[in-house]
Amino acid sequence: MAVKKEAPLLVAEEYYQISQEMLESFPKYRLPLPVFRYRDDVAQLQMFIARDQRMSNEQVEEVHNLAREGDLFVSRVDYPIYSKHIIKQLDLILSDRNLKEGEIAYICVEALNARLKDYLDQPVKIVADKLYADTLVLTEYLMADPYRIKTFLNRLSREHSLAAHSVNTMIIGLWMLFNSKKDEKAVERKELDRYALALLMHDAGMSKVPSFILQKTTPLKPEEKDKITQHALMGAKMVQKLDLGWDELVQAAFEHHERMDGSGYPRKLKGDQISKIGRICAIADSFCAMIAARPYAEAKEPLAASQEIAADARYDPRYSSLIRNALITQEIALKAPEKAG
Ligand SMILES: [Fe+2]
Ligand SMILES: [Fe+2]
Repeated sequence: MAVKKEAPLLVAEEYYQISQEMLESFPKYRLPLPVFRYRDDVAQLQMFIARDQRMSNEQVEEVHNLAREGDLFVSRVDYPIYSKHIIKQLDLILSDRNLKEGEIAYICVEALNARLKDYLDQPVKIVADKLYADTLVLTEYLMADPYRIKTFLNRLSREHSLAAHSVNTMIIGLWMLFNSKKDEKAVERKELDRYALALLMHDAGMSKVPSFILQKTTPLKPEEKDKITQHALMGAKMVQKLDLGWDELVQAAFEHHERMDGSGYPRKLKGDQISKIGRICAIADSFCAMIAARPYAEAKEPLAASQEIAADARYDPRYSSLIRNALITQEIALKAPEKAG
């Protein structure tokens, strides 16, 4: 097999060298984006096949040969297009050396968002297994270098949807998990896998709450409030059915609205009666809810939201100031929410 060559540096900035595996995820005869070939003799990229152009069998073969030899490129400007293909085969990100960190974070977020939507629409084990498989791709990627979680902080969504909120909560919760230990490398793979899936699914029960209640901008009636309160138990029952054999999944769903002083719901647990993931998820969940615009409240600035949580004794003081401290020291940066209107 030919050794694939490195892309020339200047080219690699603006163009993405696509592998054969990546090419195979595109429709065979019509490429969804223009591709370019690298010409060694003139050290230049030239447009090879235009977007949606119907290719002959010879051209299909030639495109594959170019990809195999490392001479096929697409413009990085088109990354929303090629990422749509990669999200269906997320494990490609683990072997593709030509994707940038920011692109990988974008692709992972899109993939998990799509898989989670599928699960919330159809909460059965085979759909959950696909979500879990993609979650494991993410955790493998993070295990190789825990600092990569920081790139994901730039990908927090401000969209008001259950899936977007859940992916945000996972990102913040995993960042907290890494930072809850003296050394980021102290997080074990199994723990990371469980946290990632459990954080993603913490609000699964919300998919059972009628959407008119979630969209209301006026105060809720007591029976509507009850419906929302029940999401913790409903979610716990949903994830229990997946029968994965570990506790974090149920704990996150069941306990993320419990509070240290016993003022939370549904069981009014106190302090260490609440599991560690329940306490971390509570903070990540509240923070992510605060920085997103909701029908009944405007989005808060990340720093203001983190200060509010740090000052609130209902959250575990071992973790409640992590986000605020990292924002103040500028160890992390979070974009301010977009202004509505
Ligand atoms: Fe919740
Ligand atoms: Fe939540």
